[in-house]
Amino acid sequence: MAVIVEAVELKKTYMLGKVPVEALRGVNLKVEEGEFLSILGPSGSGKSTLLNLIGALDKPTGGKLYIEGVDTATLSDGQLADLRRKIGFVFQFFNLIPRLTALQNVELPMAIAGLSGIERRKRAEELLETVGLGDRKNHKPSELSGGQQQRVAIARALANNPRFLLMDEPTGNIDSKSAHEIIQLVKRLNIEQKVTVIMVTHDQKLAMEAVRTLHMLDGYIVKETLN
Ligand SMILES: Nc1ncnc2c1ncn2[C@@H]1O[C@H](COP(=O)(O)OP(=O)(O)O)[C@@H](O)[C@H]1O
Ligand SMILES: [Mg+2]
Repeated sequence: MAVIVEAVELKKTYMLGKVPVEALRGVNLKVEEGEFLSILGPSGSGKSTLLNLIGALDKPTGGKLYIEGVDTATLSDGQLADLRRKIGFVFQFFNLIPRLTALQNVELPMAIAGLSGIERRKRAEELLETVGLGDRKNHKPSELSGGQQQRVAIARALANNPRFLLMDEPTGNIDSKSAHEIIQLVKRLNIEQKVTVIMVTHDQKLAMEAVRTLHMLDGYIVKETLN
């Protein structure tokens, strides 16, 4: 299997005024194509920082990050933006656009990628079927439950056939039954559609749903388990 993400002694230090905050102190990891990996750690351990670096939303202050073998430090801002468009993001608070319907939210990234109106409508409908929302496509986010909104967000993240999916506490803001449904959906996408998933969470039970788990503490990966 091809290595899709590799971090070598990856570091991130934020400056809080004049005070350095070492969020990542030297993270090493490899993620292979087709994997379902979780990263588990308590609040403040550096999970979101790590995910934001992998998603090219922020830049490391030390070490190396390779995406599909490319050293991301060699990429221009324009190339980093291109890279971000090949990554699917799912966040805790869904980040849907309130005045757009589910269908329009899923269509949006495809419009940006330049797909025709007919193509993107067809694919958005298929994706909403896949996530079990075929009958909710004309609802706006405020007319959907948290679990349903997160399923729209997952459909949107998949719209442009991303190289991998990054999920930051994807069930952190929904009830436990819906959370269970979300994780089953993610498992199904991983197995049936071979979607590579990297999910960060502070929830041990959720993390154990992935095939492999990296355990984070204080800016380091301290342990790896197979579930
Ligand atoms: N933009 C920022 N500026 C300064 N410190 C930050 C910033 N983002 C995160 N941190 C700090 O970095 C550490 C790791 O944060 P984060 O990656 O959000 O952890 P987690 O997602 O595991 O809760 C924490 O100490 C946090 O306060
Ligand atoms: Mg976080």
